[in-house]
Amino acid sequence: MGKFKYTPENEEKFQITAKKYPKIDSMMLPALWLVQEQEGWVSPDAMIYVAEKLGKSPIQVYEFATFYTMFNLKPIGTYHIELCKTLSCMIMGAPELKKFIKETLGIEPGQTTPDGKFHLSEVECQGACGGAPMIALNHQYHENLTVEKLDKIIKECK
Ligand code: FES
Repeated sequence: MGKFKYTPENEEKFQITAKKYPKIDSMMLPALWLVQEQEGWVSPDAMIYVAEKLGKSPIQVYEFATFYTMFNLKPIGTYHIELCKTLSCMIMGAPELKKFIKETLGIEPGQTTPDGKFHLSEVECQGACGGAPMIALNHQYHENLTVEKLDKIIKECK
């Protein structure tokens, strides 16, 4: 058993979800999702943990986790910026925001700043099109963004 372990709250969520699924097999997705919620990424250690919990081999968990692009297989920055790239956000200025992030933080989608502080992902519609363009910063939405507003948000994180 490695170092990773669900927090008691996540263990409880796992147990509640497990009751809803007839087969433990179908628990792979929610089980990994809980890992990512807890740690920000899915480490090899956590994959072993999930494999043991579900009675799978670590390689089965690994294959599953690599198939779904929403799982981070490397540690991400303290601040995870998810920039929506879908139509409304795209039209309303997401490309300018992306350019600004590149200029100020030096990162493109999929990259982390060298100090490990910021990670940028491009994501599909987050259901906040009315507030386009938007980002989620550690899952918190910031809508109707302009470069100036984003600048302020980034400075507050620094
Ligand atoms: S298009 Fe960006 S939130 Fe819907």
